[in-house]
Amino acid sequence: MTDMTEPPTVAFPQNRTCPYHPPTAYDPLRDTRPLARINLYDGRPAWLVTGHALARTLLADPRLSSDRSRPEFPAPNERFAAVRDRKSALLGVDDPEHRVQRRMMVPSFTLRRAAELRPQIQRIVDERLDAMIAQGPAADLVTAFALPVPSMVICALLGVPYADHDFFEGQSRRLLRGPRAADTMDARDRLEAYFNELIDRKQKEPEPGDGVLDELVHGQLRDGDLDREEVVAFATILLVAGHETTANMISLGTFALLQHPEQLAELRADPGLLPASVEELMRMLSIADGLLRVAVEDIDTDGGTIRAGDGVVFSTSVINRDESVYPDPDALDWHRPTRHHVAFGFGIHQCLGQNLARAEMEIALHSLFERLPTLRLAVPAEEIPFKPGDTIQGMLELPVTW
Ligand code: HEM
Repeated sequence: MTDMTEPPTVAFPQNRTCPYHPPTAYDPLRDTRPLARINLYDGRPAWLVTGHALARTLLADPRLSSDRSRPEFPAPNERFAAVRDRKSALLGVDDPEHRVQRRMMVPSFTLRRAAELRPQIQRIVDERLDAMIAQGPAADLVTAFALPVPSMVICALLGVPYADHDFFEGQSRRLLRGPRAADTMDARDRLEAYFNELIDRKQKEPEPGDGVLDELVHGQLRDGDLDREEVVAFATILLVAGHETTANMISLGTFALLQHPEQLAELRADPGLLPASVEELMRMLSIADGLLRVAVEDIDTDGGTIRAGDGVVFSTSVINRDESVYPDPDALDWHRPTRHHVAFGFGIHQCLGQNLARAEMEIALHSLFERLPTLRLAVPAEEIPFKPGDTIQGMLELPVTW
């Protein structure tokens, strides 16, 4: 007989039913915050953190490791498991090594640096919109706008030639979405080979360029502070994290806004609401929905004891809908205090690119709706495909017209 006092174990991850709401299969977990039991794709049990306060406590707890090469590290799918022993930078690294790596990167991602990049981001956004409008009045917003904008921005910042974008966008897609584990492994190999060649070329340049990679090649690599494998690992994470995530926020954010005409009208009438709206969209969409850790010591929490070796997953979408912090959490509301959402993570791994991502989202969404006041979906919302639950969330395509 089922023990009715035991909370249900849910399979993780699940597909969303609406692209901007958490999967309905997680609804029962809202009543059992702050921790739930889940089964991963390989049948392994793990913890799912669902409560906001506990999430922030645990994400800052050094007893949870981000080191994917640990055998007990939880995997959301076979693809992730296949590449988890590859050398990684930042995200898969614990302190003290992480601190050293992060310090090298922080100067390129400050609020000030993001502010300096705004005119360049605006130029890129304007050019993409010009091109889209010239070919219109219909487009797939993902390929015409949401993907190229962050892709061009991160290329300029890193010093990666945008001319190669078909190659690395395709490989990033295979890295994150396979579909098979073999595709993910092959994509990783190809990206690594690509960056090795790029580093060779940069080493031979008489005058270094001004991208982050140029600085690493002509600084840390030359001085022996980083080896080549580490520079390749930095390049891979920065390029992949730098365009896939923001692209999804722009496409899914546009979709969510079109589904909320009142909020969109309010935003258009008062552009001063832009920063708050980006933050609220971040909370509501929670596109990186499943942050992964493994416990290296026992941890007592108010939801139970996490044992050393247990996998711990953070559902940012469920955490960001904790009604004790965000009343009426399923509503899109520009006026609520959204501070402290965990859509960029929290603790030492909190998103390095968040200042850049915010600048890109503000400029992209503002310009899109300003230039195209009649923007609307070209097909019924239910027909538009979105990404499965085991990857970064977003629209697969977004047919629009104006
Ligand atoms: C809206 C877009 C973005 C979202 C939703 C997002 C989300 C996240 C999240 C949730 C984490 C923490 C992961 C964890 O703790 O397991 C993270 C880390 C990271 N993000 Fe972002 N990100 C975005 C844009 C960017 C951009 C534009 C860059 C630029 C390069 C970037 C680079 C990184 C890096 C390098 C890390 C790892 C940081 C570390 O481990 O110290 N992200 N991001």
